[in-house]
Amino acid sequence: MHIGVLTGGGDCSGLNALLRGLVLNLVERHGLRVSGVRQGFLGLLEDRVEPLSPERVRGQLLEGGSLLGCHNKANPFAYFGAGGADCSERVLACAQRHGLDALVVVGGDGTMSIAERIHRLGVPVLGLPKTIDNDLMHNERSLGFDSAVEVVSQALRRLKTTAASHGRVLLLEAMGRTAGWLALEGGLAGGADLIVLPELGFEEAELLQRCQALLARQGHAVVCVAEGAASVEALRPRLQAGLGEGVELRSLVLGHLQRGGEPTPFDRVLGSRLGVMGAEAVVARRFGQLLSWQGQGCEFRPLADVVGQPRLVPPGHELVRTAQGLGAVLARG
Ligand code: F6P
Repeated sequence: MHIGVLTGGGDCSGLNALLRGLVLNLVERHGLRVSGVRQGFLGLLEDRVEPLSPERVRGQLLEGGSLLGCHNKANPFAYFGAGGADCSERVLACAQRHGLDALVVVGGDGTMSIAERIHRLGVPVLGLPKTIDNDLMHNERSLGFDSAVEVVSQALRRLKTTAASHGRVLLLEAMGRTAGWLALEGGLAGGADLIVLPELGFEEAELLQRCQALLARQGHAVVCVAEGAASVEALRPRLQAGLGEGVELRSLVLGHLQRGGEPTPFDRVLGSRLGVMGAEAVVARRFGQLLSWQGQGCEFRPLADVVGQPRLVPPGHELVRTAQGLGAVLARG
């Protein structure tokens, strides 16, 4: 068998650990041929497919990014390079030209939606989950999320000391698209005084009042805001007006720092696990599935069941209750 592999959507830490596990296992243990597709589905649209050898992936366990490159706008069913036209036949032709028997697609919600359609068109696909947003359905923890949590947590811990020194209010915006997982876990791990989640909503008046209470009690406040809940840049002038000139407010959008750099030990292990288990799944021809991570082990879920809607934080989730128990979470109403 000849297997193609691509990393779609936005990058994250741990992708190279996954590629290492996948390629070493497919080639050295099972004697299969592997090709890397450059920049996600763009590589299949633009014919950027090249051999991927064990030598290329060895030593990549700790490397950030993706050695294959990523692209988050290359949708074959609405290709930007052809005015938004459906160019999926190009993908099928490219796979055929290179003699690819199957594809391993590493990605989040958007990438899996494409993967599922490509699978239905006749190219066998195995999906492997990665996204710092942790919002793939039926998947408890996606690759890259833990590393992003570490960045948010580290940023909050650093902001805390400077907020305390200056007696300021500091707002940090975490990524996560429409989901609050990253702000919630990062906020808990980094000791945020307040956490604002899209799933729970918030009233600006209450945020102001809680910041004032924190200032009165401890002299400063650090707030972790999920990007899906609010933009800290938009929030800043209104909150500053409410706090008055006597209180200094600063805001920080953490941005792509959350996606770059060395993966945490958890993501190195998860990446290795997904790579090796993914290779075993390919050999067993478990296609049309997402190999999901469920805390205790890997499970298969039909791709059709995981796409279409993001996995949001349930308002009654145990981590939300933990944050509530610490008095750290805001909720509307
Ligand atoms: O889905 C991953 C993610 O990092 C989101 O958290 C964020 O909203 C988005 O991608 C940023 O995308 P871009 O890299 O295009 O700015």
